[in-house]
Amino acid sequence: MTALSTTSATPYGTLPPASTPATRKPISLPRLQEMHQRGEKITMLTAYDATFAAVADAAGVETILVGDSLGMVCQGRHATVGVTLEDMAYHTESVARGLRRAQGTAWLVADLPFGSYQESKEQAIRSANALMRAGAHMVKLEGGGWTTDVVHFLVERGIPVCAHLGLTPQTVHSLGGYRVQGRNDADAQQLRQHALALQDAGATMVVLEMVPAALATSLTHELPHCATIGIGAGKGTAGQVLVMHDMLGVNLGKTPKFVRNFMAESDSIRGAFAAYVAAVKSGSFPDETQHAW
Ligand code: KIV
Repeated sequence: MTALSTTSATPYGTLPPASTPATRKPISLPRLQEMHQRGEKITMLTAYDATFAAVADAAGVETILVGDSLGMVCQGRHATVGVTLEDMAYHTESVARGLRRAQGTAWLVADLPFGSYQESKEQAIRSANALMRAGAHMVKLEGGGWTTDVVHFLVERGIPVCAHLGLTPQTVHSLGGYRVQGRNDADAQQLRQHALALQDAGATMVVLEMVPAALATSLTHELPHCATIGIGAGKGTAGQVLVMHDMLGVNLGKTPKFVRNFMAESDSIRGAFAAYVAAVKSGSFPDETQHAW
């Protein structure tokens, strides 16, 4: 038996072993790029602590996002704006530790929080370094246009970057609420220009949140070097992401229309994560009704 197949005992129970230990290799950036180019769907789920990260990894989730959504689901805030870099580093470190202990293979993405990259490129790299030191493999930042130079600066210095376009929760006040973005031609065109520029700047992944399916699908084809990860953006993206609490049906607020409750159809949390992976891979999630518009 290889080390990968062993469980790891903790005072509170056992961290799960990887689901198919013999075949699982650490997820790398080239592997994610290759999946995008081959059309194999990429799975992403948020996690904020060691145990849930290990369970998601064992269920086959390929990319784990330590999202600043932790402001809502862990800290009880109404928005992500109050989340600090220290909060993000703490949760990223916990997730990275959980993945290490469980000998996980997931690619770990961490959000640069509000106020940690807007001031200057120097501020952005200091913040990104803090998250990379905490164990992230890639950082995510929101917005297009002005962020292009920041992305280029980080990527040139060896930090993989995931962009985030469409509904960008850190600027929800400027956007006028949680609503679909890129609906009219001018907005769609601007979003497209931002996405293409971010790819040119070196972003290798982009979350598209609450964007019409037709736009998200065409961007997926227009961005061969930048895998699109959709949330409320239809089924045509290279991958999907959900906030873990939403898909387990334990969210404090209103559940977005594009979410499917995978816990309702499973008898364990690991089963719910595995059902999510299977549904994304097979293309059955999201279906025609699970969208943001
Ligand atoms: O913070 C987060 O969880 C996110 C996802 C909604 C993509 O950015």
